[in-house]
Amino acid sequence: MRIAIVGAGRIGANAAWLLAKAGHDVVLSFSRDQDKLAALAAELGGRAATPREAVEASQVVIFSVPWRIIDEALEQTGPLEGRIVIDTTNQFGTSGWEDLGGRTAAQVNAARMTGARYTKSFNTLTAGFQAEAAGRTGPERVVMFLCGDDEEAKQVVSGLIDDAGFTPIDMGGTADAAPMEAPRRPGAVYGEELHEDEARAFVEGLRAA
Ligand SMILES: NC(=O)c1ccc[n+]([C@@H]2O[C@H](COP(=O)([O-])OP(=O)(O)OC[C@H]3O[C@@H](n4cnc5c(N)ncnc54)[C@H](OP(=O)(O)O)[C@@H]3O)[C@@H](O)[C@H]2O)c1
Repeated sequence: MRIAIVGAGRIGANAAWLLAKAGHDVVLSFSRDQDKLAALAAELGGRAATPREAVEASQVVIFSVPWRIIDEALEQTGPLEGRIVIDTTNQFGTSGWEDLGGRTAAQVNAARMTGARYTKSFNTLTAGFQAEAAGRTGPERVVMFLCGDDEEAKQVVSGLIDDAGFTPIDMGGTADAAPMEAPRRPGAVYGEELHEDEARAFVEGLRAA
């Protein structure tokens, strides 16, 4: 698939490496240093473009920028209409974790990405751990949670998560995202390494509650 990366930092570049290695076409975008971005793109066998060009050329958009500049990044991408979006962001604002007034960060971002086929994933584990743990096999294979309200988009994203070297586990809709969102706390999966059986049991437990 052709995948736009909006924000090729720790999380975005790592996802780009993993997906390029799996044979996907990646287009990197949204940097304050276009030469650095182009060099990284060349290294991983992709290309660099403006956010708008990257999105227009792609079926999937990995959106991976700091929380405080989401609106700025969305202005640069232009409409995400019809694109499957994988939002990796966490609601870490200028003075710590943001209070979103009872909404999940996934609901907040889905609302500002009008027309996008929104999903959220790659946000619960540090970039360093994702790089180190990708590709494990058998019972050691690490789970990557996802959520979203578009079932077909989640199917596609689950395939990409598998290609990146993790087991996809569906947390539910954007309204169900809280356990996979910051901060790290008892009873949530944010920040936790889980494997398939325990992750499935966790989600079943939530649904039964
Ligand atoms: N790091 C983690 O372990 C981790 C784990 C899970 C989720 N997340 C979430 O994933 C998202 C991305 O995190 P990250 O750690 O990958 O961030 P990061 O390393 O700081 O990357 C941010 C990206 O945005 C680009 N950018 C463009 N304009 C920018 C500006 N004005 N200010 C800052 N960056 C700008 C940066 O490119 P240039 O520097 O080239 O300009 C960089 O590629 C965040 O929402 C974070 O909460 C992070």
